[in-house]
Amino acid sequence: MRNKITVVGAGHVGETTASFLAEANMGNIVLIDVVPDMPQGKGLDQSQAGPVRGYDVFVQGTNNYADTKNSDLVIITAGMARKPGMSREDLFTSNQKIMDAVLDGILPHNPNTKLLVVTNPLDIMTYHAFKRSGFPANRVFGQAGILDSTRFRCFIAMELGVSMRDVQAMVLGGHGDTMVPLPAYTTVAGIPVTELIKKDRLDQIVDRTRNGGGEIVKLLKTGSAYWAPAAATVEMADAVLNDCKRVLPCSAYIKGQYGIDDIYIGVPITLGANGVEKIWELKLSAADLKLLQDSAATYKEHLKILGYK
Ligand code: NAI
Ligand code: 2OP
Repeated sequence: MRNKITVVGAGHVGETTASFLAEANMGNIVLIDVVPDMPQGKGLDQSQAGPVRGYDVFVQGTNNYADTKNSDLVIITAGMARKPGMSREDLFTSNQKIMDAVLDGILPHNPNTKLLVVTNPLDIMTYHAFKRSGFPANRVFGQAGILDSTRFRCFIAMELGVSMRDVQAMVLGGHGDTMVPLPAYTTVAGIPVTELIKKDRLDQIVDRTRNGGGEIVKLLKTGSAYWAPAAATVEMADAVLNDCKRVLPCSAYIKGQYGIDDIYIGVPITLGANGVEKIWELKLSAADLKLLQDSAATYKEHLKILGYK
């Protein structure tokens, strides 16, 4: 039987995610949004591209949550995107209300699904989805680390003039200014990047990665990135729907690992059919561990705004 995948939010990230899912024949897709008719139009358009592009799945646009019933995976992209000058955290209150409405629509029809959260502020919204859904932590996870890592990989490939495919990188921490790119776990065809790029230049690339989302917001002026975010999201969907057991940096629920407790933050996980199947505890340098813990402390503060202790 084909997978059924719901994408909530048919804006830039949602429609691009639906398109990548369709191109990969990942399953039939339900694209839902509050705007009347718009997701139906996008769904028809994407379905009609199938015979030419060579995919054989349907994208059903809808405004009715009953159509999402029994989805294998629900990807939540509904929310406002950042405008120039706004931090991800500025989105907090408005997107919390949107997340509540989305969960109220999704949960009655999908008690056994998994939630892949994309809406910003990512780690906070994923925590909120975890708490409000009452789902076990393995069934609620967020996308950010793959995006931050792919930006780092892209910048390193540009710097060295090598194939992006040969660059492996790991970015942990919260999806924001406190993210923790890890040069110590970054390689080019197995060669540590620290042997290939001088420290001061690598520091600049790390800095550009931290500000990678903001750089695009400034250029687009009316919204934020969506191609790389959608690609990263679909990598996670693939891992879950095809039980790939991928080891990926994702926002997962942390209970004691890295000296951090009761928070969602970006860490390496094994992602498979059961969702978060393992959290990897890397041996971090004292400096990187402190950065990760500081990142977690920032989000603990932000969670208080939502009423969490
Ligand atoms: P967008 O504005 O293009 O689309 C958002 C869509 O959500 C709109 O179509 C809107 O009608 C819909 N929506 C609003 N309230 C809704 C509700 N209650 N139910 C269903 N749909 C609803 O924004 P874009 O660019 O697609 O970004 C979406 C979210 O993803 C933002 O919060 C953005 O910050 C976040 N994002 C997260 C990334 C990550 O790496 N985690 C990367 C890129 C974006
Ligand atoms: C990004 O990093 C806006 O979170 C989004 O591009």
